Amino acid sequence: MADQVTLTIDGVEVSVPKGTLIVEAAKRIRNEIPVFCYHAKLDPVGMCRMCLVEVGTPAIDPATKQPQLDGNGQPVIRFMPKPTTACTTPVSEGMVVKVNSEAALADRKAVLEFLLTSHPLDCPVCDKGGECPLQDLTIRHGPGKSRFDYEDKQHFPKKYPLGDLIVLDMERCVICARCVRFQSEVAYDPVLAIEERGRHAHIVTYSTPGFDSHYSGNTTDICPVGALTTRDFRFGARAWEMTNIPSVCNHCSVGCNTVLGTRTGEIKRIMPRQNEAVNEIWICDKGRFGHHFNGSPNRLTTPLVRKGGELVEASWGEALSLVAEKFGAIKQASGPNALGGLAGARLSNEDLYLFQKFFRQVIGTNNVDHRLGLSAALEDETAYTVGVGLGTDLGRAGKGTTILVVGCDLDEEAPILYLRVAAASCKRGAHVINAGGRRTKLDAQAQTSLRYRYGTAAHLALGLLASVVQQGLVAREWLDSHTSGFADLEKALPDYAPDKVEKLTGLPAADITAAAKAFAEAENGIILFGLEAGNDPALRAALEALALVTGHAGKANNGIIPVLPHANSRGAADMGLVPHRLPGYVPVEAGRVGLSAQEMLVEGSPVKGMLIAGLDPAAESDVYKAALDKLDFLVVQELLLTETAQLADVVLPARGTAERDGAFTNAERRVQAFDAGVPAPGAAWADWLILTAIAGQMGADWPYASADGVMAEITQTVPLYTGMEFENLVAPVSLARKTSHYIYEGMSFTADVREGVQWPSLAERESATIPLRFIAPAAPASKGQGLTLVAPRRLYDAGRLLAEAELMQPHIPQPQVLVSRTDAQKLGLANGDVVSVSQNGTSVTLPVQINRLVSEGIVVVPRNLAGRPAERLVGPGGLFSSVKVEKI
Ligand code: SF4
Ligand code: SF4
Ligand code: FES
Repeated sequence: MADQVTLTIDGVEVSVPKGTLIVEAAKRIRNEIPVFCYHAKLDPVGMCRMCLVEVGTPAIDPATKQPQLDGNGQPVIRFMPKPTTACTTPVSEGMVVKVNSEAALADRKAVLEFLLTSHPLDCPVCDKGGECPLQDLTIRHGPGKSRFDYEDKQHFPKKYPLGDLIVLDMERCVICARCVRFQSEVAYDPVLAIEERGRHAHIVTYSTPGFDSHYSGNTTDICPVGALTTRDFRFGARAWEMTNIPSVCNHCSVGCNTVLGTRTGEIKRIMPRQNEAVNEIWICDKGRFGHHFNGSPNRLTTPLVRKGGELVEASWGEALSLVAEKFGAIKQASGPNALGGLAGARLSNEDLYLFQKFFRQVIGTNNVDHRLGLSAALEDETAYTVGVGLGTDLGRAGKGTTILVVGCDLDEEAPILYLRVAAASCKRGAHVINAGGRRTKLDAQAQTSLRYRYGTAAHLALGLLASVVQQGLVAREWLDSHTSGFADLEKALPDYAPDKVEKLTGLPAADITAAAKAFAEAENGIILFGLEAGNDPALRAALEALALVTGHAGKANNGIIPVLPHANSRGAADMGLVPHRLPGYVPVEAGRVGLSAQEMLVEGSPVKGMLIAGLDPAAESDVYKAALDKLDFLVVQELLLTETAQLADVVLPARGTAERDGAFTNAERRVQAFDAGVPAPGAAWADWLILTAIAGQMGADWPYASADGVMAEITQTVPLYTGMEFENLVAPVSLARKTSHYIYEGMSFTADVREGVQWPSLAERESATIPLRFIAPAAPASKGQGLTLVAPRRLYDAGRLLAEAELMQPHIPQPQVLVSRTDAQKLGLANGDVVSVSQNGTSVTLPVQINRLVSEGIVVVPRNLAGRPAERLVGPGGLFSSVKVEKI
């Protein structure tokens, strides 16, 4: 095959794709060439010289241009005069590589001797000890003794804090630049650099505060020595003492695969577990450091029952009988619809399935929901109809793919998705269109930025759709065979042609037309939308139609990824944790739609008794809190005594993700199982078990004895989850895929390679016909005289779980208002000035920060920070509003 190249490495013939580096070709035949600076996820730089090998290529006869042959008819091989770096040299046809020749071995010895000239002899106390490539390679390839003068070592400050999370021991550094390159090539936060040269070279951070990046912990994984360590794990345990448990991050909907490193029942560290389909080998710092709620002394350890106005400890028996008695009495007196339940989307599928089953089958009401605050925007069915096709891999998307991101600050909402989308653009040539009401970090990597006026995202989406039709870019064949209703949709579109929506959206018609063309003409098209797109059915219908009309649906690397806020938001929708749909997106019977969270938590709500699991409405809004206060009976299942739990009549202690097994479904509809890693505190139970016990007290005879038992029922009753028994979810990937896709290096543990199982969207089913929907968007509110206040989510917030991670506290911003330089000048504001931000009679006082990412006309007050000023201005479910900003 022309694009395959055959070469010989240490006498073994191997064929690899053209362009493969020698170091990778050698891996195919399990010939490990030692490396320090090379990393398969980074561009090669050839800095450390550890990978020196002898390389020869066939000599070419200048006259015939054919390989010269020796007396035996074999090609004459000309070796380079000196060993060369295997990590920067691509293979070529007929190449001969000697990895273990005398010259290569001698050079490697010399390189190691040199790298160790200033290296401290502190392996016994180094956190990398036991999983350190430098230790391992020194034993395998080192000289055994050094000729260098120990008195002439280069000294640097020990435990130098690069930032709040990462500590540098420069004496251990081998200047491989993996950390520097990761920050600029993968994280797009180029905050590290190497200063000076030779023996004086050292790592510095250029950001204020130091090492300011959501991804800093990853540098400690790929640092091939113990130069970079996390404050969290330093001196926490030896690598070989830990038990390594496969888990899944519970902080956002990316669903990063993790390993819990545990010792004596405690989580000592969280590291990424490679899953090329989800997080590759990365996790963000929230996922890595935000786990301390697990071992927190503030955890609930026993049921609490309110007696004489106080919550006092009780036995499970007492608490459960009280719950059953009170719920039974409310049902008896006021009917089943006087009860309702809210469950958070960080509960597992098994918990959520039983939660809705309890309310629907045992109580007899559809009053269930998981959407609170901004999550109320999550009435999403697009994943069900045109979710990205099975096998979609953003980690490989590149040239030929257009990725349209609408209303989503990926770096804050789904950090590892941000890395993958940014790399698709910068490394592999995908066309990224970043459409949003404000600048986000992704703008720097996007080829096209579309800055629309807040409230007009649906108009933009319809403008793109209208333009696709206008330009004759409709995928007719696909459309005819998979959809219905195009004629009606087509009739509505002329009103939204780019020149018609130009004024409203604030976007030039030519930009909309060009973006529509880039999306429609791409071989593959993926749409991501997030919470900042707003709770707008018109937008979701338009994006769904855009995917269908362009034929970007029903196959791998095409379709929609709704970027949901929580680890199991997708699972909550799948499991029917909404008042109008049963598990599997089945509509509830007409006339039986229950109350949503917003409807249950208002004054005058008919709901008298509630069960709330893993949600804290009282902390989100005073309106919710007042409604909870008025309930006759409130039961809370929680990890900590949240504001909502403090209002409860009964509090039931629940287990966290690390303390039980279960499965989450991520934003890409991938169902992923996690194992239990540490013991639960006191008498805490898994949520599914608590629900089984309450149901039992109320007369139900549920047979569940384990989470996988619940999942077994889900596979039978929810067709989307057919085949998702635990044994399938935890099945390791095939050896063929593992060999070609998995490159994990530098960890002492064997990465447990599972990729989970995706459920197929409707567009992937041959027989399905999807009706195209058109919903006229509401006219955006008039802009008014003031500025537009936007209240986005931030990765680091003042939520209850992160509050338990002391290390993260310096990273959680204090409430402030972010203003563009232009608006600051107009208003005469400087950094630190205090302003009043007011809207409709509500006013909050905040310090100002001038921020380059904020566009003129916009002010940003992140939500879910101390005192929740943003929510007070826009309401707990609101996103933006017109405000007046005045200097005090
Ligand atoms: S700190 Fe680690 S990753 Fe960075 S250059 Fe030094 S050895 Fe390499
Ligand atoms: S990107 Fe999301 S899922 Fe991944 S580690 Fe970070 S918070 Fe966890
Ligand atoms: S690994 Fe090849 S030069 Fe560093």
